[in-house]
Amino acid sequence: MGGQMIRTLRPAKRLRGSIRLPGDKSISHRYGMLSAIAEGESVIRNYSTGADCSATLECMRRMGVKVEHDDVVRVQGVGFDGLRAPDGPLDAGNSGSTIRMLSGILAGQPFETEISGDESLAVRPMGRIITPLERMGAKVEARDGNFPPLKIRGGSLQAIEYAPPVASAQVKSATLFAGLFADGETIVRELLATRDHSEIALRDFGAEVSVNGVEVRLQGRQRLAGTTLRVPSDVSSAAFFIVAGLLLRGSEIEIVGVGLNPTRTALLDVLKGMGASIEVQPDDSPGGEPTGTIVVRGGEPIEGGEISGETTAGVIDEVPILAVLGARSRKGLRILDAAELRVKETDRIATVSDNLARMGVKVDQTSDSMTIHPADTLQPAGLDSFTDHRIAMAFSVAALAAEGECEMVGAEAASVSFPEFYDTIESLRS
Ligand code: S3P
Repeated sequence: MGGQMIRTLRPAKRLRGSIRLPGDKSISHRYGMLSAIAEGESVIRNYSTGADCSATLECMRRMGVKVEHDDVVRVQGVGFDGLRAPDGPLDAGNSGSTIRMLSGILAGQPFETEISGDESLAVRPMGRIITPLERMGAKVEARDGNFPPLKIRGGSLQAIEYAPPVASAQVKSATLFAGLFADGETIVRELLATRDHSEIALRDFGAEVSVNGVEVRLQGRQRLAGTTLRVPSDVSSAAFFIVAGLLLRGSEIEIVGVGLNPTRTALLDVLKGMGASIEVQPDDSPGGEPTGTIVVRGGEPIEGGEISGETTAGVIDEVPILAVLGARSRKGLRILDAAELRVKETDRIATVSDNLARMGVKVDQTSDSMTIHPADTLQPAGLDSFTDHRIAMAFSVAALAAEGECEMVGAEAASVSFPEFYDTIESLRS
């Protein structure tokens, strides 16, 4: 991440208006990678404007793929055998999705590639993808066997049946993407169903994927064909505006064209269960990724409560912003079974608890849980993004609902997934 700018964050009375948000980060990565190894041209509309997804496109360019990124992304796919060895290490930046999912494709290449990223990425666990990729026949060297940089020597891969010990869409995707280059049928059996954007994207590019509950099967060496796709707006980015609307009485925010894939919308169910006023109007979306409009109205009392197990997994990226809402709920919020939060862009149990404490909120933490006690007010404070985009945005929203002006170190981290975040907030003040 770049410098550490300090941003002053003014409280808001309420937020009102209609917004359209940039493309979904998870879906953009997949379209970017698959279009590069498909045959022929792909046109991708509403591709994420975040730095993470630009890192993915840059990695594909470095391997000889022609990619233009103006108002749309245009990719000249090179087919399964067309990637070239890059002239040096690939840079995934801050993006766990880039390094983990792209490793699946790199495992299928007849050359060695090194891939690494920034300081945050350098301490994120990669053993979870190394295990299946090595079982398929790739050789992967990593620092301490688990951390970037990764040196991946690909080659002829064999399909495997794999049951990942962590529920992770990135691990599932890396295994399936490697499976594209393998002989035979790759089978991934998950602990619980994670986001299915890779399965949908593979079909969009013409592959056959069979899904039966938590089991996904993909025959290797199927050809992918270039196509034209539109990325839905990011529901995880929408989460910040949904909670901002709920926190500020008199708010009414309409968010259009949002991705409503059921593997991503657990947050909406959790919030409705806590008494939030949220309306969802699905668009007429034939096949592919479903979209719709979300309308949120502020002012209803929020109950709070407890989330655990599959629900926690379903809202894992939204925990920072849920925690902020939890602090202003009637009962507070307990978040259990959340060990994965410790290995995100930052240790989010630590970085959420730290910022909440600065605002006067009492939080108890364990290795895999957080208990956020209800607070009458959010106190003005000096906040810190710790260079984590979701921490920057969650606590910028908290600052909107604070009793006075806050400051945040490293607020610009938001641009990892959502460069327009602060402008969008300003456009809604009324
Ligand atoms: C993602 C999967 C999740 C999520 C991440 C994006 C994806 O990570 O937290 O932000 O695009 O597949 P895990 O696969 O580590 O659970």
